[in-house]
Amino acid sequence: MFLFRAFNSFRNGRKSSKSKLPPGPRRLPILGNLLDLGDKSHRTSCSVTEPSWKLSEVRASRFNDFGLSYIPVSPLWRTLRKVCVIHLFSALKLDANQYLRREKIHELIGNVRKSSLKGEAINVGQAAFEATLNLLSNTIFSMDLVDPNSSHAQEFRKTVWDINHEAGLPNLADYFPLLRKFDPQGIRRRMTVYFDKLLTLFGNMFDERLESRKSKNSTASNDVLDTLIDIIEGGIEELDRNQIIYLLLVLFVAGTDTTSNTTEWAMAELLRNPQVLFKAKKEMEQTIGKGKPIEESDINRLPYLQAIVKETFRMHPTVPLLIPRRAGSDVDLCGFKVPEGSQMLVNVWAIGRDPSIWENPDSFMPERFLGSNIDVKGTDFGLIPFGAGRRICPGLPLGNRMLHLILGSLINCFDWKLEDGISPNKIDMEENFGLTVKKVKPLRAIPIVV
Ligand code: HEM
Repeated sequence: MFLFRAFNSFRNGRKSSKSKLPPGPRRLPILGNLLDLGDKSHRTSCSVTEPSWKLSEVRASRFNDFGLSYIPVSPLWRTLRKVCVIHLFSALKLDANQYLRREKIHELIGNVRKSSLKGEAINVGQAAFEATLNLLSNTIFSMDLVDPNSSHAQEFRKTVWDINHEAGLPNLADYFPLLRKFDPQGIRRRMTVYFDKLLTLFGNMFDERLESRKSKNSTASNDVLDTLIDIIEGGIEELDRNQIIYLLLVLFVAGTDTTSNTTEWAMAELLRNPQVLFKAKKEMEQTIGKGKPIEESDINRLPYLQAIVKETFRMHPTVPLLIPRRAGSDVDLCGFKVPEGSQMLVNVWAIGRDPSIWENPDSFMPERFLGSNIDVKGTDFGLIPFGAGRRICPGLPLGNRMLHLILGSLINCFDWKLEDGISPNKIDMEENFGLTVKKVKPLRAIPIVV
């Protein structure tokens, strides 16, 4: 746990001067430990200092007022979380609408097969990104928003891609709040354009669905949008159109890059560790049959695939630093005093690589999870890729299903060869730090139909 305490400890300085504050590198006046941060803050954030951790781009389109991931704990936040956890992503609901995702997995396999027949390499992260967007858009709207034949769909794909790209850029205004008003790199301005585009699109889809539900011939669907309209019309929760449209935006922004980056890291590790890939293929061949796409109901029967996903989360948590927490009062923690008002960042990346928790932390060894009860649901603090506590990721059940579906299908339906004869130990694993951790060099590999 790392404390962001430049201003806070300054403010509380006298009160806590006799207490033992948590250790950290020496801080410079005003700059604190900013210069220690570098461009990979999850690797370097050993008690770095920063006055406020409100990312300036999330102020675009008032995302910080309505976006579930940025609003503080409040009645609106509680309602939105309840809607996600109970109504949208419960096991019952996801089982009921899994048919919306099944067809998309078949399409992914079909597209990869086309590249395979041409002997072409695919950009694994991009294929996973498009598959995730389609899985999400079908779960949410029962329709494809990524259709190569539709220009609207192409624009949607590009907009979500651009949002994730901008969110990944280091923003000077986050480090120097005085610059915030000036938006020196134009990130907030561009984000406003992207957010507004999606808010308009989702608003139109919301209105069209309301209209179509009035028609006698309309059939109820089990998707997220219908569920949300049922909630409003049935007076089950107090939510309005605006809040729902922002929620839809948050679900797309929070659900895409996280899932597709994790898939790309998992594939990169599998190609670097052919013996692991071989074992995963064997498990699937014996459990569901060689070359078959996997179903959501198969996931529980694939412990080695689950172990691969956990090991990927341990080494490459796509959200390296959790949403900052603020100490509500002075807290004693492991003999140190955390002063009231301190902002705390939990460095999930560092926990996953901590040699006092994990044996050989830099080796990819899914076997460590076989026969172990360690899970990603927020109770095993050594492995918290979805966070923990009351802000734990509400999309965990859907994210986990999508990840196993995409990864399992890529493993079971294809053999893989690296492009340009690159040998497995030469795969570039460098990380690019933003809100999520991405591979700097996209993984490109040639699929071969099994
Ligand atoms: C591999 C996939 C995913 C990973 C690793 C992931 C990870 C995370 C993490 C670490 C957080 C912050 C939790 C904390 O601070 O304790 C978070 C928050 C959130 N995630 Fe996910 N996520 C994933 C997929 C999804 C999906 C598919 C959705 C929805 C469709 C989603 C929606 C959200 C939302 C709305 C929040 C904000 C919750 C709040 O602030 O109360 N995530 N996620």
